Amino acid sequence: MRSKLIEAATNARKNAYAIYSNFHVGAAVETSSGKIFQGCNVENASYGLTICAERTALVSAIAAGENTFTHLVVATENGVSPCGACRQVIWELCGDIPITLVDETGACQETSASKLLPHAFGQQDLDS
Ligand code: THU
Repeated sequence: MRSKLIEAATNARKNAYAIYSNFHVGAAVETSSGKIFQGCNVENASYGLTICAERTALVSAIAAGENTFTHLVVATENGVSPCGACRQVIWELCGDIPITLVDETGACQETSASKLLPHAFGQQDLDS
């Protein structure tokens, strides 16, 4: 399943709408029911409206009625980590899931939501 997810993220990257940065990102998230949802970054002339690949994939899965996630893969040219905003959203929707970062050569780096966002602010902090 891991290789299928890597392939899905790598393929999604080809759909990136990144005409401003030319930095193409793909993501794929696996649900506990075994489904895969893909995402890519979608930029805008009003730069701040850009949506990252990770959030595109997660929002797509949520919209399809899925809410339990088991693994996220992010594909970029150089295997970089998700941005801060995406880390917060990943934590919110996925909790501490494994995350694989893959580069253009197929080289992978394994990490996790809690490693990328230690001491995260979340739902538990709103309970009193
Ligand atoms: N980008 C992502 O899609 N995910 C990230 O985690 C980092 C940044 C996108 C946003 C923008 O389209 C481009 O990469 C350059 O920042």
